[in-house]
Amino acid sequence: MTLLAVQDVTVRYGRLTALRNASFTIGQGETIFVTGPNGAGKSTLLKAIAGVVTPVGGDIRFGDRSIAGSVPEDIARLGFSMVPEGRHVFATLTIEENLRLGAGMRADKAAVAADLAHCYQIFPMLRDRKESPAGILSGGQQQMLVIARALMAGPRLIAIDEPSLGLAPKIIDQVYEVLLQLRDERGLTLLIVEQSSTRALLTGGRMLLMRSGEIVMEGDARELLRGDALKQAYFGYGGH
Ligand SMILES: Nc1ncnc2c1ncn2[C@@H]1O[C@H](COP(=O)(O)OP(=O)(O)OP(=O)(O)O)[C@@H](O)[C@H]1O
Ligand SMILES: [Mg+2]
Repeated sequence: MTLLAVQDVTVRYGRLTALRNASFTIGQGETIFVTGPNGAGKSTLLKAIAGVVTPVGGDIRFGDRSIAGSVPEDIARLGFSMVPEGRHVFATLTIEENLRLGAGMRADKAAVAADLAHCYQIFPMLRDRKESPAGILSGGQQQMLVIARALMAGPRLIAIDEPSLGLAPKIIDQVYEVLLQLRDERGLTLLIVEQSSTRALLTGGRMLLMRSGEIVMEGDARELLRGDALKQAYFGYGGH
């Protein structure tokens, strides 16, 4: 079943076209990596889906609804959670307060309590420090917290912008372990931006390569990474 369909989406910042006629779909439970050099439009693509920026053209469908032009709160309510670049935690609030903010707009208190318990089960490190201010956490722990916070909204799809950035390889492994567990246990759909393709190779799934605002290549991550075509598309040279 197609969960998300991005059709011909274009985003402009003033005169700059940051995303040009982007099209792809994600099935329920699928994992997609978006990769590409700096400035390729990866974050803009996520922001367009999340409703943080408004496309000037095209359509975005989530489930059976068109969400292009909707406000972020409404898109989140349908089951889309985004973890933006930069791991923004509320440093002076406790870890539990941070997590509860993630559930902010959900009315079902019992479900929120159950999700909080589940979060602590997945991230015992957060449970152990739940009364501490989030500011004491290390970078890797903050990454866990922002992912856990996004999960508190009860999403069907979680989009994460560069989860590995600045983290040690061992910590990155832990982050991915959790994400894949959620995918396998709950059928969570993963849309992950990573500049490095190493993770896509390890994890498998589909990969979109972006360059200069366009999706220039799409396919099975491992197959793409085996050949030279990806490197050529990444660096933008044809031939050698
Ligand atoms: N708010 C903005 N206003 C103007 N230009 C922007 C804005 N945000 C991004 N851009 C520009 O749009 C283009 C795409 O940016 P975007 O952040 O989507 O790229 P990216 O692939 O996520 O890059 P990075 O790997 O550095 O995170 C870049 O040229 C960037 O400078
Ligand atoms: Mg980015």
